[in-house]
Amino acid sequence: MTAHAIEVDGLVKLFHPRGRPPLRAVDHLSFAVRPGSIFGLLGPNGAGKTTTLRVLTTLTRPTEGTARVAGFDVVASPLEVRRRIAVVIQQQAADLLLTVRDNLASYGRFHGLSGATLQARSARAIEQFGLEECAASKVQDLSGGFRRRVQVAKALMVSTPVLFLDEFSTGMDPLLKRSVMALLREESRAGRTIVLTTQVLTEAEELCDDILIINRGRQVARGDLHALKLLSGGVYELTLTFDEVPAGLAAEVAALGPLRMETTRTTLQVSLKEDEQQVLALVSRLAARGTVRRVEVSGASLEDVFVELTSLEEA
Ligand SMILES: Nc1ncnc2c1ncn2[C@@H]1O[C@H](COP(=O)(O)OP(=O)(O)OP(=O)(O)O)[C@@H](O)[C@H]1O
Ligand SMILES: [Mg+2]
Repeated sequence: MTAHAIEVDGLVKLFHPRGRPPLRAVDHLSFAVRPGSIFGLLGPNGAGKTTTLRVLTTLTRPTEGTARVAGFDVVASPLEVRRRIAVVIQQQAADLLLTVRDNLASYGRFHGLSGATLQARSARAIEQFGLEECAASKVQDLSGGFRRRVQVAKALMVSTPVLFLDEFSTGMDPLLKRSVMALLREESRAGRTIVLTTQVLTEAEELCDDILIINRGRQVARGDLHALKLLSGGVYELTLTFDEVPAGLAAEVAALGPLRMETTRTTLQVSLKEDEQQVLALVSRLAARGTVRRVEVSGASLEDVFVELTSLEEA
């Protein structure tokens, strides 16, 4: 057995779109995931996140390189891998023709649950995910948000050592999302390894112990939140609140080439990569332009780091 829950070495996945050059969706990725950690795979649209998860969950074969999940090679032993994982992946549906309850039951049985345990786990999942009223409905008759609930309920009902979630929160209302995040933390504390992708960086910021940022199939950065923020040292987020943002101010700030900028009638929010002195000088210059009600300066958020690192790569 291996010490890592997941080991990926030199992974490449090529696609061959008709009439176009081959596309490197995953381009020599290597990483390992500690058992019991929550690992976030982040990157812009098309970065290769879903493709990576599809390889790790045996849905597609790698072109080159190796991947081991729970100690088993995804190509040599796909069934062994499948027994040890639960997957919530983009576009993968529950069994549409079965009812919600039967979906949970058949999934639980595949993972070795039966009898009273299966009953209890299924009842708990139905309750946790607010599926009481649609438990007897076929999944094909549910809304998108409820289908997602069924998928996540299934994954959390079983106790496979590894759990993969591809943008799990898409279409979930904020209350449910909160409770799912709490459940994920509990699972991780109990030793389950979780690999997730998300576009909602505050989610990753709250959940992930370890983060890999990829772009165009390649690693851009890797580390825990603290390390990533250091990596992107010198990013400041500045919020100025005015009675009314002075005319021309937004254009002036945009000329400084901020990483991000948002304005409303009364606020100007901007992320800049500058040294601290310059940021402070800027604040006082901007403040002199109008009646400032409030000034906030804070260090980088994961979103700032993400934007900075992935746009560096573009250049
Ligand atoms: N079956 C396929 N055939 C051809 N190209 C594909 C296929 N699946 C994915 N791709 C391409 O591979 C690249 C990576 O796609 P992937 O779905 O892994 O990205 P992603 O990071 O999950 O993006 P998103 O944030 O939009 O979900 C994209 O350029 C995509 O168009
Ligand atoms: Mg995707």
